Amino acid sequence: MAQLWGGRFTKETDRLVYRFNASISFDKKLYKQDIRGSIAHVTMLGKQGILTQEEAASIQKTLEEIEKDVEEGRLAITDEYEDIHSFVEANLIERLGDTGKKLHTGRSRNDQVALDMRLYVRDEVVETDLLLKELLTTVLAIMEEHTETIMPGFTHLQKAQPITLSHHMGAYFEMFKRDRMRLADLYDRMNFCPLGSGALAGTTYPLDRAYTAELLDFYGPTLNSMDGVSDRDYLIEYLSSLSMIMMHLSRFCEEVIIWNSNEYQFIEIDDAYSTGSSIMPQKKNPDIAELVRGKTGRVYGALLSLLTTMKGIPLAYNKDMQEDKELSFDAIDTVKGCIALFHGMLKTMRFCRERMYRSANHGFTNATDAADYLVRHGVPFRDAHSIVGRLVLACMEKGIAIDEMSLSELREISPVFEEDIYEAISLQTCVDKRLTIGAPGKEAMERVIETEKIYLEQAGIAVS
Ligand code: ARG
Repeated sequence: MAQLWGGRFTKETDRLVYRFNASISFDKKLYKQDIRGSIAHVTMLGKQGILTQEEAASIQKTLEEIEKDVEEGRLAITDEYEDIHSFVEANLIERLGDTGKKLHTGRSRNDQVALDMRLYVRDEVVETDLLLKELLTTVLAIMEEHTETIMPGFTHLQKAQPITLSHHMGAYFEMFKRDRMRLADLYDRMNFCPLGSGALAGTTYPLDRAYTAELLDFYGPTLNSMDGVSDRDYLIEYLSSLSMIMMHLSRFCEEVIIWNSNEYQFIEIDDAYSTGSSIMPQKKNPDIAELVRGKTGRVYGALLSLLTTMKGIPLAYNKDMQEDKELSFDAIDTVKGCIALFHGMLKTMRFCRERMYRSANHGFTNATDAADYLVRHGVPFRDAHSIVGRLVLACMEKGIAIDEMSLSELREISPVFEEDIYEAISLQTCVDKRLTIGAPGKEAMERVIETEKIYLEQAGIAVS
């Protein structure tokens, strides 16, 4: 047991207590951040004359060697250390002797872990954003290709009005775009450096916190040391954004599953992204979409778990906070994997235009437009609604679509109908006429696509 404390103890830690308390099995993921933070800290200590320049330089060099040895497999991060901080410091001291013992001057594991986690999350936020941006590029490509692919739009999962595949995809474009905005937003709020907060009350050394913050690419230091060591808001915000991303992906997956079903056949998932059944040879299952939908609960769980952990913690640091790691690491990896896999599935998916069109054509999706036709000919909307309702009933009895009724049959229901009704309720017209911004009409969609193209050309948070 290589631990960083023990002076005031007269007994060995109970074996089970040690294991229960230790975090090395999961915080070893933070070794790069821990070393990066330590180098910034020691550089600042050197600049401030708290350590000599030589001491600072040799600590930095040795820390870099430790990092390289871990990376190249020469040094294993094992369970004999309590946490990643102990691991790095113990190895430093082993290599550098007394000079190594000076690294922790003016620092506590409380601000150290707060920094490590922030550095880790900051990078992950950028990576999540990049994955979303790539996904958006594919969504936009589908939008561009399918401005004329007519399909039914649904409410209550009942066919409602005709739209285009471009328009449907555009809805998800907006959702993922907002997800990116949320990430950019939380990035800006979290990008402050807690290092120098000490255990809770700062330190008596003349630290230059602004300098450390600058070395680590933060906007500046956090402004309250108690908050600095015990703030996990940024992580909760990130988990909340990740939950939102999963909610969007899950809705999309739900549609993929429905569209891929034998009854719909709007799409065909590529063989590479489908799985088979061990017993039913004909099966080709949308397992990826189902798994993404299924994993959503796991990410929500992480958010709720951390919210609950944090709600009863008095200021400042308490060990409960160690629980922030495992669930966050899992949620982050899960979401990144889901975005990437979903993206691959979407990119290789085939859209069956013919099936979509036929579905839109046989579901009275033009009923609203038939009513609007009557309104244009002077019938009050409420009456028009009722006339078309009767018309739909008559069509259902005959098992035909509205435009399959003859003009005389139509006129039996309302004499207002003229020959031009057929043109007015063709699916093409129904879509083409919806030209206000945000609607499925081709010209409106093209304007939106241009806007989104410009949006995607702009740099994301990755370079801010
Ligand atoms: N493993 C701890 C965590 O993740 C590091 C901080 C330990 N600080 C302490 N006072 N025991 O939160």
